[in-house]
Amino acid sequence: MTNKVRILWGIIGLFAATLISAKASVNTPTQVLFTEQAASADYLLLGVSANGETGAVGLAINQNSAQGLSYLIEASGFTGKAMSTKLIPAPQNSGFKQILLVGLGEPSQNSEVEWQEIGGNAIQKAISEFKTVPTFAAELSPDHAAQLAFGAKLGSYYFDKYKTDSEQQKSVTSITFAVPSPAATKALFNKDWNSVANAIWHTRNISNEPANVIYPESFVTYWKQQLKGLKNVSIRVFDEDDMLDKNMGAIYGVGRGSARPPRMMIVEYMGANKKQAPVVLVGKGITFDTGGISLKNPPNMWNMKFDMSGAASVVGTLYALADRKAKVNVVAIAALAENMPGANAQRPGDVVTSMSGKTIQIRSTDAEGRLVLADGIYYGDITYNPSLLVDVATLTGSASRALGKDYAALFTRHNELAQKFIEVGIKTGDQVWQLPLNDNHFKAIKNDVADIMNSGPTAPGASAGAAFVGSFVREQTPWVHLDIAGVAWNDKATPIKASPGSTSFGIRLLNGYIKRYFEQ
Ligand code: BES
Ligand code: MN
Ligand code: ZN
Repeated sequence: MTNKVRILWGIIGLFAATLISAKASVNTPTQVLFTEQAASADYLLLGVSANGETGAVGLAINQNSAQGLSYLIEASGFTGKAMSTKLIPAPQNSGFKQILLVGLGEPSQNSEVEWQEIGGNAIQKAISEFKTVPTFAAELSPDHAAQLAFGAKLGSYYFDKYKTDSEQQKSVTSITFAVPSPAATKALFNKDWNSVANAIWHTRNISNEPANVIYPESFVTYWKQQLKGLKNVSIRVFDEDDMLDKNMGAIYGVGRGSARPPRMMIVEYMGANKKQAPVVLVGKGITFDTGGISLKNPPNMWNMKFDMSGAASVVGTLYALADRKAKVNVVAIAALAENMPGANAQRPGDVVTSMSGKTIQIRSTDAEGRLVLADGIYYGDITYNPSLLVDVATLTGSASRALGKDYAALFTRHNELAQKFIEVGIKTGDQVWQLPLNDNHFKAIKNDVADIMNSGPTAPGASAGAAFVGSFVREQTPWVHLDIAGVAWNDKATPIKASPGSTSFGIRLLNGYIKRYFEQ
């Protein structure tokens, strides 16, 4: 090699190294790769099914080690039960030093969600054991392997970009799976799963970001960046002047107290015939909820940065659909504002006029989510005549207390929709539970000064919130309200989400629902 070539390679190497080291601070999604063989290395992840099978990779290790692998698995007492893992020393001459056994259970019995959890759990164990992810060998069909890989990718998400000590960073660059049919598995993973995983990734990132980084305008910039280059996507943004022009007094009123102006972001994805009525998704996008003049108690206020999770999930869902080129028309509307007390903030007792013409008395400035949704959902309903209208919102502490971390609360005037959502929720892992919405809930928010008020002192909190939002949807429109206050954030780790923080609830559900009922 000449000196010049050497220098050139040096520069390329330096550039590559910078890209890799910059990885943690930008937190790009983990890459998923598929191969057939597991090359010799210090460590290996090895799938073991309940009948003790370890597939082609296990067979090769056994051949090199006089059946040493089978002996060690049996001696360790490992049964291959789903969700179990065990670290064993690798047999001599196997090419590995340590093997993390991953129980696959009875592969034909596992549900989609179980595969995801097995994958995510294994990756988290590997990262805490090895600080890196070795090749994961598993003798699985493309279908099962793709679902496992989806969960593994989600499980490898860590929000560690603000950790300056690299010892504390857990993010990894890639995960490699050794599977019997790598090409078919890769094709399936890329077609059905990777776009959804990336959407979840970007949604978790923006929901975890603090409110000094993500506010209405930067929410818009962030998603414009992510959506750049995707086909058939167009974006419109309303600022305060547009809101005043369109008589959107409800969202405008919430934004008034903040130095960060409100925005409404409208993203259209036209993946099907233009004549087909779109599915419209509307999200609550409060980038920080102090409660406004009706100030919240300080101790738990800090995580009200996630009060924009609904907006992030609806744009995230559209990202997934556009990225996997789904044949469907979808519109995502993010109703964005920061709820702050300030000299210009609205007060309890104020009356505002929404775009629908309905007047609203503000009883609590802390019931702000329904106000931004009022204008967002009305705009979506009358502009698009949707085939389905879904709003997603961290709306009430009441829904969170009722259903905890297991289910989002679902409300609808059209009960047949509830059953369909419940089923898709079970299949995809984003589970929902129906709570009531009846005439009493609508009566409870009637007001003696204005048409309605934003909090009903006598109605149950979550249902009153749903009735308020529903007051801005035409009765014939198929509409579902998802209150995700309890499920959008989890301080505890789960198999598919290691870091405390945003779960990105709603993307698996809405992607799954649209796939089943709307895609051509
Ligand atoms: N963002 C909150 C709801 C919330 C609470 C989400 C806890 C996640 C965890 C919402 O804006 C709110 O403050 N709701 C009030 C409504 C009340 C004033 C009618 C609530 O639920 O207490
Ligand atoms: Mn609030
Ligand atoms: Zn809120």
